[in-house]
Amino acid sequence: EADTEALLGLAAECGYAATDTAENADLVLVNTCAIREHAELKVFSKTGGLKKIKEKNPDMIVMLCGCMAQEPHVGEKIKKSYPYVDLIFGTHNLFCFPQYLCEVYESKNGGFDPKGHKITQIWDATDEIVEDLPVERKYSYKSGINIMFGCDNYCTYCIVPYVRGHERSRQPGDIIRECEKLAADGVVEVMLLGQNVNSYGRDLETPCSFAELLSAVAEVPGIKRVRFMTPHPKDMGRDVLEVIRDHPNIARHIHFPLQSGSNEILRRMNRRYTREQFMERAAEIRELIPDAAITTDIIAGFPGETEKDVDDTVDVIEKVCFDNAYTFIYSPRKGTPAAAMEQVPKEEVQKGFDRILAAVQENARKRAGALAGRTMTALAEEVNTQDPEYITCRLSNNIIVHVRGDASMIGHFYDVTLDECRNFYYFGTVLCENVKGY
Ligand code: 5AD
Ligand code: SF4
Repeated sequence: EADTEALLGLAAECGYAATDTAENADLVLVNTCAIREHAELKVFSKTGGLKKIKEKNPDMIVMLCGCMAQEPHVGEKIKKSYPYVDLIFGTHNLFCFPQYLCEVYESKNGGFDPKGHKITQIWDATDEIVEDLPVERKYSYKSGINIMFGCDNYCTYCIVPYVRGHERSRQPGDIIRECEKLAADGVVEVMLLGQNVNSYGRDLETPCSFAELLSAVAEVPGIKRVRFMTPHPKDMGRDVLEVIRDHPNIARHIHFPLQSGSNEILRRMNRRYTREQFMERAAEIRELIPDAAITTDIIAGFPGETEKDVDDTVDVIEKVCFDNAYTFIYSPRKGTPAAAMEQVPKEEVQKGFDRILAAVQENARKRAGALAGRTMTALAEEVNTQDPEYITCRLSNNIIVHVRGDASMIGHFYDVTLDECRNFYYFGTVLCENVKGY
């Protein structure tokens, strides 16, 4: 999403404006995700749908970029089966997009063949971090900020290190300057983004820890809520938790990916922590920041997973009592070690997934329900998609509250009472505006 905002910013500088549909577009940019097969299938289907549109409008330029472009077998497939894609570029050279656009136009002028595939621009790696790219933000009041790129962890199921390269941190000064600029532009909430934020800064000439960065960001005037994603349990230090405890404007929400509660599966996932270590860290979070929600990611059906392994995962879910979780069915990613391991039969995977999901939902309901009747501070984010008389707001702990109101509230904080719990979200009532944000 952050890359899409940069691509939109670059496109705007080239004179383009967004359209609602591809039918009336001069340029279609397909920015892709490779994390699971489901995401990739969506890309193939959307890109396939562009063929008919391009037949009607042969001047339309189609470009495909992002993580899928970075996978060699996908690049080949696009070239072969989707020849109307004019240009493919990867994750390391996103900032070259305007130059590539010019190249497409130039190749058109020089005897452009609407059927033949044109240009591929994939870099194997980069050490470069390009600062100050223009961005078109999706939201006026909140923004993601990349603090680092790439990942060195090589979890055996994960494609990210292969398509995003090794870990590189941005300079803290550049990040703080970006926060100040965003605050001056009316942004009240920032989300610091990295694949493993705990290892932020270790590669810098003058090292700066994630705890130091987080604290500096939280102290930027005007930034009323700070979130971050994602910490890695193996590296989560007490210093980070203390910074959160000491800064009420850092969200009471820690996304803490478990992946599996079985020590054997964790070992084969190369996660480099045990279920015991994970639970100790989670207990430390509950002790230091008792009002923080802990959410997680869990994969069901990793190669070799047995019923007993699923029992262990369900056990951790119950012991930690996660506030919520994203549960995924394991998706083999070509080129990763786990893809070559013996796979679990589909029906077994589904059974495990269903058990994990049921445990997650039961605990999430319990945790959300316990807040009924409380008054908490919420950021008004958008007009409710189902009923325009309601505004959808988000608490510091990431729980959604719908309140009566209008669009003028968006981007402001309110103290709201949590009246009625509906499973994982609330209906509430606004008491008053809260200018501090907590
Ligand atoms: N299959 C299923 N889920 C995956 N994730 C990453 N790779 C895979 C995969 N191959 C999940 C992990 C990660 C989240 C972003 O996506 O749970 O935390
Ligand atoms: Fe993938 Fe996250 Fe593991 Fe990096 S730390 S390899 S991004 S799951």
